[in-house]
Formats: sequence, C-alpha cells, structure tokens
Amino acid sequence: MLQMKHMPLLSSIVFLVFTISVFAGSEVQFVYHGFSGVNLTMDGNAKVTPDGLLELTNDTVNLGHTFYPSPLNFRKWLNGTVQSFSVSFVFAILSVHDDISADGMAFFVSPTKNLSNTWAQYIGLLNSENDGNTSNHMFAVELDTTQNNEFIDIDNNHVGININSLHSLQAHHAGYYDDQSKSLKNLTLFSGKAMQVWVNYNGDASQINVTLAPVGTPKPERPLLSAPYNLSGILKDPSYIGFSATTGAISTQHCVLGWSFAMNGPAPAIDVSKLPKLPRIGPKPHSKVMEITLPIVTAAFVLVIGLVISLLVYRSLRYSELKEDWEIDFGPHRFSFKDLLHATEGFKNKNLLGVGGFGKVYKGILPKSKVEVAVKKVAHESRQGMKEFVAEVVSIGRLRHRNLVPLLGYCRRQGELLLVYDYMSNGSLNKYLYCEDGKPLLSWSQRFHIIKGVAFGLLYLHEKWEKVVIHRDIKPSNVLLDSEMNGRLGDFGLSKLYDHGTDPQTTHMVGTMGYLSPEFVHTGKASTLTDVFAFGIFLLEVTCAQRPVKQNPLQANQNTLVDWVLDHWRNGLLSETVDTRLQGDFNADEACLVLKLGLMCSHPFTSARPSMHQVMKYLDAGMPLPELTETHFSFTMRALVQNKGLESRNMLYPELTTSIGTFSSLSGGR
Ligand SMILES: *[C@@H]1O[C@H](CO)[C@@H](O)[C@H](O)[C@H]1NC(C)=O
Ligand SMILES: *[C@@H]1O[C@H](CO)[C@@H](O)[C@H](O)[C@H]1NC(C)=O
Ligand SMILES: *[C@@H]1O[C@H](CO)[C@@H](O)[C@H](O)[C@H]1NC(C)=O
Ligand SMILES: *[C@@H]1O[C@H](CO)[C@@H](O)[C@H](O)[C@H]1NC(C)=O
Ligand SMILES: *[C@@H]1O[C@H](CO)[C@@H](O)[C@H](O)[C@H]1NC(C)=O
Ligand SMILES: *[C@@H]1O[C@H](CO)[C@@H](O)[C@H](O)[C@H]1NC(C)=O
Ligand SMILES: *[C@@H]1O[C@H](CO)[C@@H](O)[C@H](O)[C@H]1NC(C)=O
Ligand SMILES: *[C@@H]1O[C@H](CO)[C@@H](O)[C@H](O)[C@H]1NC(C)=O
Repeated sequence: MLQMKHMPLLSSIVFLVFTISVFAGSEVQFVYHGFSGVNLTMDGNAKVTPDGLLELTNDTVNLGHTFYPSPLNFRKWLNGTVQSFSVSFVFAILSVHDDISADGMAFFVSPTKNLSNTWAQYIGLLNSENDGNTSNHMFAVELDTTQNNEFIDIDNNHVGININSLHSLQAHHAGYYDDQSKSLKNLTLFSGKAMQVWVNYNGDASQINVTLAPVGTPKPERPLLSAPYNLSGILKDPSYIGFSATTGAISTQHCVLGWSFAMNGPAPAIDVSKLPKLPRIGPKPHSKVMEITLPIVTAAFVLVIGLVISLLVYRSLRYSELKEDWEIDFGPHRFSFKDLLHATEGFKNKNLLGVGGFGKVYKGILPKSKVEVAVKKVAHESRQGMKEFVAEVVSIGRLRHRNLVPLLGYCRRQGELLLVYDYMSNGSLNKYLYCEDGKPLLSWSQRFHIIKGVAFGLLYLHEKWEKVVIHRDIKPSNVLLDSEMNGRLGDFGLSKLYDHGTDPQTTHMVGTMGYLSPEFVHTGKASTLTDVFAFGIFLLEVTCAQRPVKQNPLQANQNTLVDWVLDHWRNGLLSETVDTRLQGDFNADEACLVLKLGLMCSHPFTSARPSMHQVMKYLDAGMPLPELTETHFSFTMRALVQNKGLESRNMLYPELTTSIGTFSSLSGGR
C-alpha cells in the first residue's frame, strides 16, 4: 500500500475501482493436462479433439485462436507496473512434410479476444496495417517455422519474443542449453515431437526469459532467450492470454497438449504422464506396387505381370512431370500432377471455370485434404527463365492478404505450368457486371465494398510488401469474389511469365486492351502507375457496368468509356453514367466520388494520377478529392491514343501497330 501515499487525491469512485482491481488481481493460477472439458474460448479452426488435444490448425490455409476465457489483471494496482508471471506449455507441430512447415504458432497476451482481422503470415496475431503499432498492446512468444523476409526472420525454425510486431525483439534458432554439457542442442520445432516452453517475466527486474526443451526434460537452467524489457509500457489491464496458429500451403497440425500459468509465482509443473497422446506420424505411406506384384510373381501369373507393367508404364506417362534440381528449393509448394489430375477429374470440361489470359482454369478438390482449389493451366515452353519465374511465383505466392486470391502451389509438366489457387466460390466480378451465367445484379453498396477491397489489395501489392509487385492486368475478370463477396485480385505477378527469357522480337503485350495506359503502350514498361490507370478504368466499369471501349465506332468522340464519362461530367450529368439497372438506388456521393476518382486514375499523364495510397485515403478515409477542372481533362482518350506520338513508335514496334490499329474496334475486357 506504499504506492497509495504517493498517489494524488483519489476520488471515491477511483478508490472503489482501485480496491476491486486489487481483489480482481488475486493470483490466477491453473494447470491443464489435456483440454477435455476445459472452458476455453476458441475461434477459426481451433478445436479440442476427443483425446483432449488442443488443435489450433489441422489443414492448409487454417487459422485458429484459443483464449483463457476470462481476462487477467496483470497489474496489482490501477496504473501500477506489470507483475511477474510465468507460463508453461507443451506443444507439437506436425507437418505433412518432413523438412518444412508453415506458418507457425505463438503464445500471446492481448487486450482483445477479437483477433479476426489478422493474417496467416502474421501467425494470426496482427496484419500488415497494425504490425508494429504501439496501440496493439501485444506480447507474444512465437514458434516460427517460416522465414519471412519482411519480419527479418533469422530462419524457418526459431523462437522469438515479440512486442506489438512480428519483427521479433529477440529470436534464436530453436534449441536448448543442456544443463550438463552447457552446450546448445538444436531442436526442430516441426519435428512432430512434443516440446515444452517456459515463459517467465520478472516484473521487478523487467526481464523476459523463454526456455525450450524436449518434453520430459527438466527446465534447463539457462534460457534460450533472455531480454531486458519492461512490459509495464505494453500490456493493457486486463488482458487475455492464449495461443494462435496459422497454416498456408502446407498442411500442418499445431497442437497444445498441456498448459499452466501463474501470476506472481512459478507456473505449476506439467505432469508429462498425464498429457494426451499425439497422433502418430509414421513414415509416409509407401507405394503398394511391391506388395502387390511380389505375390503375383511367386504365383507366376506372367500374363498379369505384363498387364501390371503396361499399366505402370501408362501411369508413369500419364503422371509424368518435369522436375529439376533447382526445384528442390520450392519442394513444399509443389503439387504432384497425379493429385491435380484426380482433383480436377482429369481436367474434365465440366470442371472448367473459365478461360483467362494465361490459360484455362479448372475447379478441383484436393484428394487428401478435400480442399477446394482452382487449378490454372498455363502453357509454357521449357525455356530459360522458368526457374526465375517459378521462384517469383512462389515468392509472390507467399503474399497473404484478404483481397488477394491465395496461391497454394504449382506443378510443372512438359510444356505446361499448373498453378493452384484457393477456390473463390462466387466467381469473377465481370459475370455479375454483365449478368452472365445467371449471376444477380450487384447493388451499389456491394460494388463499393468490392471496389474498396480491390484498392486495398492493390495497395498491398504496391506498397506493403518487401518488394513492389505490379499486377499488370487489373480488370473485372481478374477480380474474384469470395464466399463473403469480398473482392480479391487474382493472377497477380503472372504477367512476369512473359518477362523472363522471351525473345524481345516477339514481346507479347501483357495486359488487356482498354486498360492499358498510354505510356505503357509507348514504352512497354509497366509501373505502379500503369496499374493505377487500369484501376481507374476498373472504377468506371464497375460503376457504369460498361466495357472500357465501346463497340459503336460511329460516335466518333465517345468510343471510350473515359470519354463518355468525361462528357457527362462536363455537362454536369455525372451521376447519369451510373449503371441504369440500379434504377437510381445508389449513394450518389459515393458513386460520384468513385467516378471522379476513376477519371483521375485513368488520366493519360502519369503525373496527374494518384498513388494507391492516396486512392485509399479518398475511398476509405474520407479525404476530399481535389476539385477536377476542365483544363485537367482537356484531351480525349481517343485523340490522344490515335494522334499523339504513337505513329513514330509504330514503326519500331510492329506488334504494337496491330494492337493500336484495332484499339477502337476492340471490345476490351473479356
Ligand atoms: C486432422 O484432419 C484429418 C483430415 O482432415 C483427420 O483425418 C484427422 O483426424 C484430423 N486430426 C485430428 C487430430 O482431428
Ligand atoms: C467459461 O468462462 C466464461 C468466463 O469466465 C464464463 O462466462 C462462462 O460461463 C464459462 N462457461 C462455462 C461452460 O463454464
Ligand atoms: C491512470 O493513467 C491514465 C492515463 O495515463 C490517467 O488518465 C489516469 O488518471 C491514471 N489513473 C490513476 C488512478 O492514476
Ligand atoms: C472484430 O474486429 C473487426 C475489426 O477489426 C470488426 O469488424 C468486427 O466487427 C469485430 N468483431 C466482433 C465480434 O466484435
Ligand atoms: C496505430 O493504430 C491506431 C489505432 O488503430 C491508429 O489510429 C494509428 O494511426 C496507428 N498508427 C500508425 C503509425 O499506423
Ligand atoms: C544448430 O543450428 C544452427 C543454425 O542452423 C547451426 O548453425 C548449428 O551448426 C547447429 N548445431 C548443431 C550441433 O547441429
Ligand atoms: C532469466 O534467466 C537468467 C539466467 O540466464 C536468470 O538469472 C534470471 O533470474 C531469469 N529471469 C527470469 C524472469 O526467469
Ligand atoms: C517499468 O515501467 C514503469 C512505468 O511504465 C515504471 O514505473 C517501472 O519502474 C519500470 N520498471 C523498471 C524495472 O524499470
């Protein structure tokens, strides 16, 4: 009670709160051996198995959280310092692969139970928006099995202390200091073997220790990590404690077997003999061929052998893939062709979802995990640059954002690359805009939500990742709608296919006519601003439900959507361009904002276009658009494209001539 004397005069109410918090802070302590019947709060894929195992994930693309149900008082007094606490738990990470796993798991202290807006590569704790923000008030100990360059991860098998960010305060390769030899012994987090973690915080000394050991080994004296850190400036009172885990392309089980906690004292010991059993992960199933053929040989059914052999030859041809040494680096992201063949029922036409710029897309169900996927078949010649391309695709495939379609992996065959994506149940946006395949009309609020989602996804590609990713082909048919009707960008980074190892004489124009910015048509060089241009056209198209290039060449001045919208804007009739099928049922402020923003983004001069960062501010943060003026738009798209500077270029780029020659008669988007 010494501290009270130093406090300023407290009102009686504050005093009451203060007294309650003293009692509420009564030392919480628990120990669980297995979790059958234990009161826990869970979300996502987390569940307690009948054996009592707390399973946070058990598949690809999983996310699970578990919380101790009531919040804990980490401070003895209101505004006091954070007290000492101690946590211990036994966990196991079981990956379907021996040598790789994803993404990882963590013990955390969080002010909220609502971790719904978090992403996989952030182990379900944070997202790219709030990572590093001091208002997170989050402390975590990560068991990280993925090396993320954006978090400066040291390797794909480390333990880290995290404060408000996935970029660890301190991290170490998984292991422990042996008490006898004093030497460091390595451990593999995703070995499938149970291990124990101790997290100790000393409030007086402001020190965090984290210790790891194989299960059954007494707590090593020397911790693996020891960081001086004052959590008093971090934790909110009260806060929740719990576990989080996520998976991506690799099916991984993240399990907790036992858990103990104590405020102001050592966590109760976990009795290993009382823990639930882990699922057995035996050796991977072997081919049954030998078991089958051996008895046949002994029985000397020569004819049958011949049949079996020809069947095997047939199978090996049917399932043959291209695999080279360098691809071992990408092992986990590689699907077997056999699995993809089975998933899509042999690429049957009834599973065809669509034909895109890069090839046909099929729906499939992965045989083991039963995950629904979309498999894209991209034709390619086995040319140089394939390695860089696959590396690029796999690296970009690590991108996770709720407005991007997740890439799960790939497979390569002679003349063919197969890309495996998460299946988006509501299909592509263009079908809704033009009411194809019986898709219903989208309301304005749905369209506005999708527009913001796409802007968010594009901002992420441009600015939020370790390197700038240019999409190059933004248009409604590349925007897919997930089960909650969120807009997600697909095909990002794919256009790179044509960048690598192609003969410059036959450079393909990547992108789609009508969405290509003038400077891209001039130089063939894509930039974030060429994406912004296409995004501008996309805004107009979604709002007006009209193709970017109109088919009626008779109305000389009006054959691009941009010019048509500009004409209406000049005459003060902007809102008349909104999709008439909405019958006036839309928010006119929002629609006019989107239309004007569309005009700004699709401005022929790059310097006049906003960045996606600015676009988000206009769309989402209510920042007012600058006033558009007549001089700003003293051009018409058509005049610009046809007259300014392009003729001379046409001589140099015969490929372009055709494209531009047919510009006015093309229908644009698919
Ligand atoms: C994990 O999922 C697989 C298939 O999805 C299932 O067979 C297995 O029983 C699950 N494991 C546990 C422990 O629930
Ligand atoms: C679980 O704990 C929460 C918070 O303490 C409590 O509200 C809830 O009633 C408990 N549920 C059960 C089934 O005991
Ligand atoms: C606790 O801290 C907050 C913010 O620093 C302050 O507004 C409040 O007056 C403090 N309460 C007490 C009892 O000191
Ligand atoms: C959780 O937080 C998100 C925003 O981060 C919010 O949209 C959502 O409504 C919240 N959910 C609950 C159940 O409070
Ligand atoms: C941190 O989060 C708060 C609340 O969400 C937000 O207002 C603030 O702008 C964020 N700060 C940064 C630097 O992003
Ligand atoms: C332990 O792992 C580290 C990092 O991978 C490595 O440098 C070291 O040689 C390993 N030590 C042993 C004994 O295997
Ligand atoms: C952390 O470990 C060091 C030994 O390396 C020990 O002296 C200290 O007391 C430990 N602190 C806590 C909070 O366990
Ligand atoms: C930790 O920070 C709090 C203020 O946030 C301070 O009162 C306390 O003295 C600090 N503890 C140590 C050991 O420095």
